[in-house]
Amino acid sequence: MIGKDLLQLRGMSRETIVEILDTAEQMREVGRRKVKKVPPLRGRLVVTLFFENSTRTKTSFELAAKRLSADTLSFNVNTSSTTKGETLMDTARTIYAMQPDAVVVRHGCAGAPHLLARNFPWRVLNAGDGIHEHPSQGLLDMLTMRDQLKSLDGARVAIVGDVQHSRVARSNIWGLTTMGAKVVVAGPGTMCRNELSGLPVERRHTIDDVVKDADVIMLLRIQHERLGRAVLPSPREYAAFYGLDLARLRMARPDVMVMHPGPINRGVEIGADVADSEQSAILAQVTNGIAVRMALLYLLLGSDERRPDEVSHGVD
Ligand code: NCD
Repeated sequence: MIGKDLLQLRGMSRETIVEILDTAEQMREVGRRKVKKVPPLRGRLVVTLFFENSTRTKTSFELAAKRLSADTLSFNVNTSSTTKGETLMDTARTIYAMQPDAVVVRHGCAGAPHLLARNFPWRVLNAGDGIHEHPSQGLLDMLTMRDQLKSLDGARVAIVGDVQHSRVARSNIWGLTTMGAKVVVAGPGTMCRNELSGLPVERRHTIDDVVKDADVIMLLRIQHERLGRAVLPSPREYAAFYGLDLARLRMARPDVMVMHPGPINRGVEIGADVADSEQSAILAQVTNGIAVRMALLYLLLGSDERRPDEVSHGVD
């Protein structure tokens, strides 16, 4: 059972992850129809509250809510005019007064969604909190992997790049290891430090050490906005040592999956030709993001106990 909120994948049971991914598979059917809308969340209000920029996560949550017939309201918070703590709570009180059923929140501070979940009875979905977690991204990545690999149990996933500052990496690491996958990481010392030993991963030093036997290679954007200066000599040097170009891709298994949460920096962490290659699952990740977010909203808010396949023919 999913519980009241979606805050993190750390501690989420295998059964719950499977329930979400199985529900997402059913939701994906809705996206393949001519009329991409089903009624289970009719009359419910989903608010998106983003204190950090986003393209795909915000639009994907909004689209997911609309496909389930919920109303959506989007608060675009100008980061410069807000700070954490009391101001966040004041913003939340204002939004709460509009009686939403769920709030999808992205914030630069780890733990902000937890604060909103503890203090209000609405459902909270964490859309990324600082360097902590990005659980819906981890789930959509797992769905994309499961589609191709059939099972996550025993899958070998290599995560390359700025693991230290990546909430995407953290959510994937917790989720994937719960599902029985083996995660190895590689990146420059400033972005992939030894303290990562707190995470259930094996650390290797070079990208060449991890690509050869991986079923999945997940690349990460360098989190410039969370880094101090002087952790990276230059993007060109990063690309030379840690970028996945065609030459490195050829060292991997021919059926390897290449993933990236986006936004991608072509020519830095991923070669332009690799991003557009047959092995790239980047656009499948985007499509699966809608299905996973539909599943999450449905499981958290759909109180009428009907499964999506039972309600899906009643288009209104
Ligand atoms: C990620 C994020 O915001 O954490 N993007 C996303 O949600 N698709 C990764 C990133 O910004 O690098």
